[in-house]
Amino acid sequence: MLYRNIGKPLFFKMDPEKAHHLVVGGLERTALLPGAEAVMRTVYGVKETPDLAVDLFGLHFPTPIGLAAGLDKNGMAVRGFSSIGFGFMEVGTVTPKGQPGNELPRLFRLPSDEALINRMGFNNEGAEAMARRLSLLKERRIPVAINIGKNKETPNEDAHDDYKTCIRQLFPYGDFFVVNISSPNTPDLRSLQHGSELSSLLDAVMNEMSQQAKVHGTQKAVLVKIAPDVSDEELEYMVDTISGSGVSGIIATNTTLSRAGLSHGNAKETGGLSGKPLRERSTEIISRIYQQTKGSLPIIGSGGVFTAKGAYEKIRAGATLVEIYTALIYEGPEVNRRLHAGLRALLKRDGYAHISEAVGANHR
Ligand SMILES: Cc1cc2nc3c(=O)[nH]c(=O)nc-3n(C[C@H](O)[C@H](O)[C@H](O)COP(=O)(O)O)c2cc1C
Repeated sequence: MLYRNIGKPLFFKMDPEKAHHLVVGGLERTALLPGAEAVMRTVYGVKETPDLAVDLFGLHFPTPIGLAAGLDKNGMAVRGFSSIGFGFMEVGTVTPKGQPGNELPRLFRLPSDEALINRMGFNNEGAEAMARRLSLLKERRIPVAINIGKNKETPNEDAHDDYKTCIRQLFPYGDFFVVNISSPNTPDLRSLQHGSELSSLLDAVMNEMSQQAKVHGTQKAVLVKIAPDVSDEELEYMVDTISGSGVSGIIATNTTLSRAGLSHGNAKETGGLSGKPLRERSTEIISRIYQQTKGSLPIIGSGGVFTAKGAYEKIRAGATLVEIYTALIYEGPEVNRRLHAGLRALLKRDGYAHISEAVGANHR
């Protein structure tokens, strides 16, 4: 109510990127005030319930709904986002060196489509700045994943060095890691998803992860985030390669280049489309991955989830956890309580005692 009636009308009058900085900066600063985290938890927090808590990758997720990558690119507001009902969050995408990203404007609202188009281009302060910031956190209340990418100027043949550098610098500060090879806004990044480039990149990533595990005496999971704009054959190859590489899971999916079915004038903007128009396609990808791997590789679903029904569809298709981004912009932090309550009701309706029983249910 608060966000819909007060916050959103204000934010939606502002330039989208300015509103975004205001939210992240506001959450960062508010969380530093004495007692503020407790207040945020009272207003927006979600009470953990045994039917929806998930144990995965050796981590405990108090709820299955997380914050997708790209909102807190520099890990500035982990405490704030941890207090408004998310069960986990991603920070990043972070690159080894800080970079400005693309020219402004680069973020566009499409309210009539309940969507966003962005061509941010991995604007971030770099791995060192993120490491410094995350090292100051006394505790992490929810699992925090670090989403890593390559600098724009790094050619694809050297991309593995960028991913390895990020892992080396950030290993102690993330609970798990996400290899982002699916942003449409870094030229040619998505070609790392295909052919021998994918297998050699994942070999390098797994190598660095196991070296860091030795150095720090603890293993951490690494997942790969993929694009929805792939043919069936490409997807089959990607899933095969990812499964064979030893990574712990897949995030499906990133934003899409498709513009099908949009009504808003901003549809002409270049960049990745997120929100409602992405929902069905990302669910279809989840379904195909689950079928191909027979449920053996955990999937985090991302794309157009606004409602409990949308989250549940992704879970029934094969996702163990689900993430949101665009729904938070349109619906505000109240969305987390709605998703939680709605998911509980849907589990009950279908006679499941725990969410894990619903994962992949469409395929049985
Ligand atoms: C403005 C914006 C920036 C994003 N930046 C990143 C990013 O840096 N790394 C990444 O992996 N995904 C990024 N994403 C994609 C989201 O993490 C998410 O996968 C996608 O938006 C689909 O989910 P949604 O429909 O719930 O927004 C970004 C999305 C938006 C809207």
